[in-house]
Amino acid sequence: MLIEKVEEEIKVKGQEPIKVLKDVGRPCHCLKQKSLKNRFKNALIPEEFKNARFDNYKTENETQRTLFNATKDYLKDFPNIMENKPKQNSLGFIATFGETRIRNLSGEERYKVKAEHNSFGLGKTHLQMAAAKWILNNIRIHDEIAPGQKSRFDRGCRVLCVSDIRFMGELINAKMNSDGGQTLNKLLESAIQADVLVWDDIGKVKYSETKEGLYYEIINERYRQQKPIIFSSNEDIGTLSEKIGYAASSRLEEMCGDRLYRVEGKDYRLRREAQ
Ligand SMILES: Nc1ncnc2c1ncn2[C@@H]1O[C@H](COP(=O)(O)OP(=O)(O)O)[C@@H](O)[C@H]1O
Ligand SMILES: [Mg+2]
Repeated sequence: MLIEKVEEEIKVKGQEPIKVLKDVGRPCHCLKQKSLKNRFKNALIPEEFKNARFDNYKTENETQRTLFNATKDYLKDFPNIMENKPKQNSLGFIATFGETRIRNLSGEERYKVKAEHNSFGLGKTHLQMAAAKWILNNIRIHDEIAPGQKSRFDRGCRVLCVSDIRFMGELINAKMNSDGGQTLNKLLESAIQADVLVWDDIGKVKYSETKEGLYYEIINERYRQQKPIIFSSNEDIGTLSEKIGYAASSRLEEMCGDRLYRVEGKDYRLRREAQ
């Protein structure tokens, strides 16, 4: 906060005005910078995607253009999403032919389907991390202080990026902790309270009933509070529901509406070998 001295005149009837110096506070630039830095730190953007940006994402084929435009269109609507909290507020990139479905095929067919319907290395995570950074840098939020009444002060948007294997592992470990659920609650709260949750590779971890319950708890709570989830998965809509449970996957589907994209294409990492 910057404190400035401002001269003010106090008028008393029948007397000369008295001049007083008043302290006026306003947030300074360096404080805002510090808060932005903190929000970046708390967002937990993975190290390998620190350089993932829109300007270094190539749009040379149809799939890349679909993913790129989908992300851009979503961000165009994002101020409206945060301001008006529509029911359809999320963005999902999923496979056309889920990893689990492919794994269950045998021999030659598996090889063929895998080659024809690849969903790895399309840049799903690249774009979603670029989106997370854009949101951190650009979106300010006016909190609701009473029903229908927004605060006149704004704050930066809180983003949390989680990667499925790691995050589910942390949740399961926390569940086994003998601290009366304290660590587990803290983790659940962080995923529920974030203004935007970016869930990378959702449904990657091996299925268990406990995990199904955890997926449901987070997704259902965000669904209820109409808070966006930006997610990517190598499962398709059918196999995703087997991995995270139907209740959770159908909510995710509803939260996306027509912003659920089924994508397949060439793995960007293999592009040199293909040339
Ligand atoms: N169109 C693209 N332009 C530039 N880099 C890309 C593109 N697609 C993928 N990459 C890069 O290739 C790697 C794999 O992409 P990633 O986003 O992890 O794919 P996915 O999440 O679809 O499996 C990352 O390092 C990413 O930055
Ligand atoms: Mg990915």
